[in-house]
Amino acid sequence: MKRYKIAVFVGSLRKDSFNKKIAENIIRLAPNNLEMEIVEIGQLPHYNEDLDTHNRVPAWTAFRNKVKTYDGVFLFTPEYNRSISGVLKNALDVGSRPYGKSIWNGKPAAVGSVSMSPLAASIANHTLRQSLVFLNMPVMQQPEIYIGSAQNLFDEEGVIDDSTETFLKQVVTDYANWVQKFN
Ligand code: FNR
Repeated sequence: MKRYKIAVFVGSLRKDSFNKKIAENIIRLAPNNLEMEIVEIGQLPHYNEDLDTHNRVPAWTAFRNKVKTYDGVFLFTPEYNRSISGVLKNALDVGSRPYGKSIWNGKPAAVGSVSMSPLAASIANHTLRQSLVFLNMPVMQQPEIYIGSAQNLFDEEGVIDDSTETFLKQVVTDYANWVQKFN
């Protein structure tokens, strides 16, 4: 059985982030042919094209080299002021350059949006999809992953409720099939 390495990005740096909790559950529920792990993005300096020569920002080079080794990406975004978070957008921008050498090109992707709001960060979900279209990433269309009122989905021990777990398991199984189509 071929195994696929999947990079998971979480667009919230908050310690108790619900995006992170949902990402961790997706990783736990992944089928055996997916090897998923969170790739940190909070350490990346803001993208500045002036500095993007001769490895002057080693953190960008390290990030690009690392992400290149994955077969697909799974992105989780909160909604900040009706858009995606700055940290997630910065990671996309860093990975997209130098021009013509984007690490994102062709990588099969999935987008999840998670919020305490019942609106489930759905605007951020689609804002993120817009960038992924330009970055030439095939994004799984269905099932869509909108997780709203996230604070109500976990018990006191942090265990996720049964219906959300069933949904996430379906999502990550469908994503595994999606990844296979492009690798
Ligand atoms: C928010 N939040 C928010 N929620 C929403 O539904 N629409 C929005 O436009 C915003 N805007 C926004 C801006 C900023 C700066 C912050 C800090 C928060 C609420 C936010 O989506 C919510 O707190 C999520 O739970 C954040 O995700 P994590 O940190 O739990 O993963």
